[in-house]
Order: sequence, then structure tokens, then C-alpha cells
Amino acid sequence: MRILIPLLLSGLLLAPPAFAAPQDDAATPAHAQSSASMSSAALDITAGGISRAEWMAAKPVLARHAMVVSDQHYATEVGLNILKQGGNAIDAAVAVGYAQAVVNPCCGNIGGGGFMTIHLANGKNVFLDFRERAPLKATPTLFQDAQGNVVPGRSTKTWLGVGVPGSVMGLNAALKKYGTMSLKQVMAPAIKLARDGFVLQPGDIKVLDTRTKDFAEHPNVAAVFLNHGQPWKAGEVLKQPELAHTLELIEKGGSKAYYDGPIARAIVTASDKHGGILSLKDFRDYRVVWTKPLECRYHGYTIVTPPPPSSGETVCEILRVLAGYPLPKWGYGSVQTTHYLVEAERHAFADRNTYLGDPAFVHNPIGRLLSTANIARIRSEIQPDHATPSSEVKGSLGAPEGLHTTQFSILDAKGNAVSVTYSINYLFGVGMMAGDTGFFLNNTMDDFTSKPGVPNSFGLVQGHINEIQPGKIPLSSMVPSIVLKHGKVFMVTGSPGGSTIISTTLESILNVVDFGMNMQQAVDAPRVHMQWYPDEVFVEPGYLTPQTRAALEQMGYKFKTMPAWGADEAILVNPVTHTIEGANDRRRPAGLAAGY
Ligand code: DON
Repeated sequence: MRILIPLLLSGLLLAPPAFAAPQDDAATPAHAQSSASMSSAALDITAGGISRAEWMAAKPVLARHAMVVSDQHYATEVGLNILKQGGNAIDAAVAVGYAQAVVNPCCGNIGGGGFMTIHLANGKNVFLDFRERAPLKATPTLFQDAQGNVVPGRSTKTWLGVGVPGSVMGLNAALKKYGTMSLKQVMAPAIKLARDGFVLQPGDIKVLDTRTKDFAEHPNVAAVFLNHGQPWKAGEVLKQPELAHTLELIEKGGSKAYYDGPIARAIVTASDKHGGILSLKDFRDYRVVWTKPLECRYHGYTIVTPPPPSSGETVCEILRVLAGYPLPKWGYGSVQTTHYLVEAERHAFADRNTYLGDPAFVHNPIGRLLSTANIARIRSEIQPDHATPSSEVKGSLGAPEGLHTTQFSILDAKGNAVSVTYSINYLFGVGMMAGDTGFFLNNTMDDFTSKPGVPNSFGLVQGHINEIQPGKIPLSSMVPSIVLKHGKVFMVTGSPGGSTIISTTLESILNVVDFGMNMQQAVDAPRVHMQWYPDEVFVEPGYLTPQTRAALEQMGYKFKTMPAWGADEAILVNPVTHTIEGANDRRRPAGLAAGY
């Protein structure tokens, strides 16, 4: 089944968890309830390789002033140093973004795109969309053959799958608008890491090993990501001189070097040579979009989350439905919580896949989807005692009108917060580089609807609204989010994981707000996910007990256990003590939360 591939790519990152050493009990937030709401599930089952007792004892990294969390420890340290040098959260985010492109080449990137959600200490919330766009020569049937069948692999393994990248313009635009440091200052650590190299840790090797075979297919990739034809080993130093050169071009020439200079030329030359459709005009025309994030309320908290072309609406729709039920009383992982969470997700994904797309091209009926009437209707359609087949759930407004990624979260001492998810879609994207540019290009074109009704790599069955059009941005699931309490930062959260990003991010919020978990418990807790189609509920090991599974199966649910998915890199500010909790997801052992 196609959805397995990218999910397993994320899951392969699983390893014995790297829990922070338990710290003093002050780490338990004052807002946290007793663990009673979590204990309804059995205590001795495993959560993706760890015992439930171990997961429940998990403690976050604590800090007084500022925090950086990312899924690669060198990148976290880069961000922390920028903050300690007096940079703000935006400076740090840009530095982490460039550093991730070096030390986390599967996911961190300058060949893809993403989203940045920003909360400024002055109270303003802003959103930056630097997602990839369809090339100008793209057509709705790009990935179909003459008979109208979707050609497997065309959107993921060929140059046709490459969208016009936005990461460089996005990072540079964020720095220019809200940063305080120069591009030279924030790029220096990334350039050094690329030129001098960095020591690979077991967590890095696990990620590289997922595509070792593919690296051998392209000499320019093998030259960097294989060591004389052999896989890299832990303890060895990975140097990337070509990437260092590319980064220096950007550092000196700014975005122009990428979009109207040697880098665009190298990409277009390689694309032409290998049957792609990218043009120099695609790069010259590329623009980022500054806009307002979506905001919704849940139990007194404000969730600040991406608008279309991403899926913050889906997060809000699920939360709006769930607000009508006593989740804290029912508890994490209980039959009722799971039932209502899964049904809310089923409806919200049906709406997402039917009505959402790039707002520059299609109308997104956000107001109607989140309206009290629509939420009440969804609640009324949820049967209290059984699962509703997905075939009976349609987008709720009638006909529409119109394995990769990485998350990092930063909070500075002034109260500015940045949540970034950016991606090249699969781990190592399309698996190809242009000439000697030294970086992987994305295969994000697969996020478009290749054909209405045919699932994409993440199993998402999407409609016309998200069909390919020149210059359009594909609908995304990436939802870098910030949760505010009384206008101040309470949480910074987000994750990779394709379609599961939405539930992973949402569950990190529920786990804290409703189930009283600390930040580390909340990201480590086993997850549950439903996305309308396929009509199955994905669960990580440890989410269900034998009893809850039996009860939910009686209600008509079909479960599929997946090894693990996502990597929520999150921050929580205790509203009473102001202690900052940082949590690197145990599913990313190379990651790190660090603060001061
Ligand atoms: O934007 C999206 O929804 C996807 N391109 C994200 C891909 C992803 O998270 C891959 N990681 N597992």
C-alpha cells in the first residue's frame, strides 16, 4: 500500500529512545492534572519500543530564558548559540534552517519549501509561506499516461516531481523582515559545518541508511553520501564542499544567487537533461507569501496555525469538534477519547481533501468549515457507539466552489517564538541533485492531486481543488503551530510525517491541555491517526491496550499498527513558573532540546 512508504520512512527513524535524564519534579507543569487521566490505559505495554512506565516518566529539558528544539543536535546547538549571541528567535530559526540543510540532509533543505509561524513578543502573529510551486509548464495530468492512469513513481522519482523550491527565499525573507543579524552571521555555522564536516552519530546513520541504495544510482549523490561507495558509519566525518560552495554563493549573493543566478541555472540544466520541466522563469517568478495565520480557540488557549495551502484549518476543525466532549475526564487512549478523536479526524480530513487548496487559485471556505453550524452538524453525525464508514462521510459543505520533512521550534528570551516545518517531501526528496550544487531537490509535486480519487504517497485521496496548475502551491499537511495562553506563548509545536502531521501536532496539544502531560510525555506518547481514506485507524505500538482495542473493534474500527511516525519538536512554557520545557521526540534520536 502506497501510504506505507513514507510513513515507514519516518518510522525507520525509530531507535531506542534517547530520554533526557529525569530532572527534578518541578518539571511537572502546575497546569498538569494528576496522571489519572493518562492511566486509564494499561501500564505495562510498550510505546514504540519503550515501556509505558518509561514513557510516562519522561521529563523534558528545562530552561529559564530560551529554548531550541530540532531533530538534529548540531542544528539545535547552532540555534542556541545564535540566541546566546543576542540574536532573536527569527535569527536563530534562519540559522537552524540553513544548518539543518547541512546536518540533516534528508529533511533540512535548500531544495524544498515550508512554512514559518511566528509569534512576536509584541503580540503580533504572522505566517510565512515558502512552499514549493508547480513549474509554469505543469499541467493537471502531468503524472498521468495517455490513458489517464497515474504513472507510479512519476511524481516521486523523476524530475517532474520537483517543485520550484522556496526555502532559500523563505529563510532570507524572514531574516530581512524580523531578524536582527546579517545573512553572513546566521549562515556562517552552516557553511562551517558543510566545509569542515561533522561527526555522524548513530541517529544520523539510521536516516542515511534508509536510502543508501538510491545514493549509488547517481554519481554526484554517491560522491557525497557514500564513503568511497560504502555507507557512512557512526563516528566518521561527513564533509560537503559542494554544498559549502552553494551556501557561500547564497551568503554573498542573497536570494538572487539562487533564483536568478548560478544555482537556478544548474537546476534547470539538470532538469532539462533528465526530462524535467523547470525553467529559469520559474525561479525568477518565485515569491514567498506573508500572510496572517489561522487562529482558533480551544479550552481557553489560542492555536496559531497555518492557513491554506496548509492544513491548520483541519487542526482547528478537529479541536472545535472535540471541544464538545469531556476528553480530560475520559483520558488519553481511552475508548471514548479514541472514538471521538478518530471520528472528528475522519470528518475534518474529508473536508480538507475536498475543499482546501492554494488560496491564490481556489476559494477555501474556512469560515463555513469552522462555523458553529458545521461543527454542530459533524457532532450530530458522530454515532456514540460505532464507527462511521468513511464511505458515508463526504465533505460537509456539498460540492466545492471553486519519507521528507523536519520541524524546529524556537523561543527566545524576549518571548518571540518561531515554529518551522520545511520539507523536500520524502527522505532525501527526489533523491537527486543538480550537478555539483550539493543539495537534494524535493518531490513535493506528489502533494498535488495526480488524479481525483487516486491516493498520493501519503494515501490522501484528494479532489480537483488541489489539481496541478502552473505556479500553484500543492496542499500541505505541515502545520507548524504556536499555542498562546492570555496572548503569551504556551506551546510551540509541529512535526514531519505527511498526512499524520496534522494528528501528531494536534495530539501534542491535547496531551498537554487535556491530559496534563509534560512536554516530553506529550511528544513521546504513542499516537493515533485517521485521515478519512483509507478507512483504517493507524496506531503506534502502545496506543491501544488489548481492552481498548477489543472495545473499539466491537464498534467497527479497523486498526493498522505502524512502527512509529512523525517527530514533534516542541516547547512548553509553564504559565505559572515560567519554566521552559523542551522536548525532542524520542523517535529522532539524533535530535536535541537545549536552552539556557
Ligand atoms: O507538505 C506535506 O504535507 C508533505 N510534503 C510533508 C512530507 C513529510 O512530512 C514527509 N515526512 N515524513
